Amino acid sequence: MTKEGKLKIALLTGGGDAPGLNAVIYSVVRSCLNQFPGCELIGYKFGYRGLLKNDKVPVTRESTSGILHLGGTILACSNKDNLFQYPEDANGKKTKDESGEWVKHDLSDIAVANMKKEGVDWLVVLGGDGTLTSARDFCRKGINVIGVPKTIDNDLASTDTTFGFDTAVNIVVENLGRLHTTAASHHRVMVVEVMGRKAGWIALHSGIAGSADVIIIPEIRYDIDKVVDKIKERDSHGKPFTIIVVTEGAVDKDGKDFISKEVKNSPDQKRYGGVGAYIASQLEEKVPEHEIRSVTLGHIQRGGETSPADRLLSVRYGVAVADLIAQNKNGHMVCLRNGKIDSVELEKVLASKKKDGDAKTGATGEVSATGDKTVTLDHELVTVAKRLGISFAAAEPQK
Ligand code: F6P
Repeated sequence: MTKEGKLKIALLTGGGDAPGLNAVIYSVVRSCLNQFPGCELIGYKFGYRGLLKNDKVPVTRESTSGILHLGGTILACSNKDNLFQYPEDANGKKTKDESGEWVKHDLSDIAVANMKKEGVDWLVVLGGDGTLTSARDFCRKGINVIGVPKTIDNDLASTDTTFGFDTAVNIVVENLGRLHTTAASHHRVMVVEVMGRKAGWIALHSGIAGSADVIIIPEIRYDIDKVVDKIKERDSHGKPFTIIVVTEGAVDKDGKDFISKEVKNSPDQKRYGGVGAYIASQLEEKVPEHEIRSVTLGHIQRGGETSPADRLLSVRYGVAVADLIAQNKNGHMVCLRNGKIDSVELEKVLASKKKDGDAKTGATGEVSATGDKTVTLDHELVTVAKRLGISFAAAEPQK
């Protein structure tokens, strides 16, 4: 509470950035100032690290003016600051155990004390699965929390879609257009690696919209010989160039995927990458008559301006945050269901469930179930792609 007994609302952006975070901040600020006259808003910097270090800035109508369209986050973010399992003790000291791993400490009480001292009534947490897991855990510790889901991967089952996804698809489609003209000019095969972790949504949407010839997604194991078949089929039709879109977390017929690095202290420690270059090297051997190039779009997919569709979704989420606060819906996350704004309890979003190779551990060692919306083989867009003649290079025969 402020001195005048008015609401104090804090925001933080955790995890990786996604286009639309600034639009949510913009909208939360305006809708809260309208709905709760005289309320005060602050932002903690670098996600949960700001809560620990008490690193905060005022967030006002003026300081958020002109940010609606901008990607990134004015509050900065971090995907390595789980305060429930922090690699430093309360004095900032790091120690290693016998196996050489950093000893983890639960510093969440420091964050709770900082928020209490500041008089924070509501904490609005914008983030993905790892960030929302901590949000739930702060809620269990008595903090009033509202969650806002974010990820470019669009892999959260509790909401129809997440902001950042549409922007990423737009960027990929734009780049596929560019790659088409150069591939066609040189009669080359282009392998384009896109983000998405273990969910093929970005590849599926952008592959169809960007006229890819092959779409390789983690949900359908691929066989490199099926990719070769498609290249040869196109050759025989007088189309001696081929565009292949592959999700970074793709898996070949033997179960092999490519982890480029492990980020310690991140809820999702695995970083995928390298499958595009690998596929390109295999194709160089199998279709030597073609020149092959691989392109990894990487973080370009998260940068720049936010698409209009993501801006709209984000400002709707921001208004919904103010509504949830007004309705005292502590522990809820805003979401989109059948195109309408709704909310769901964080406890339900993060129900305990182990997921293969993609575990996110909460305060209590529970594993959250987010990142759980992957492409199903009966999804309409999979059928649409097949009917258009796009190959999934499936290792197993498909219906
Ligand atoms: O989850 C969003 C995402 O952009 C993934 O698509 C990608 O694998 C990962 O984050 C990259 O993480 P980082 O920013 O740590 O490299």
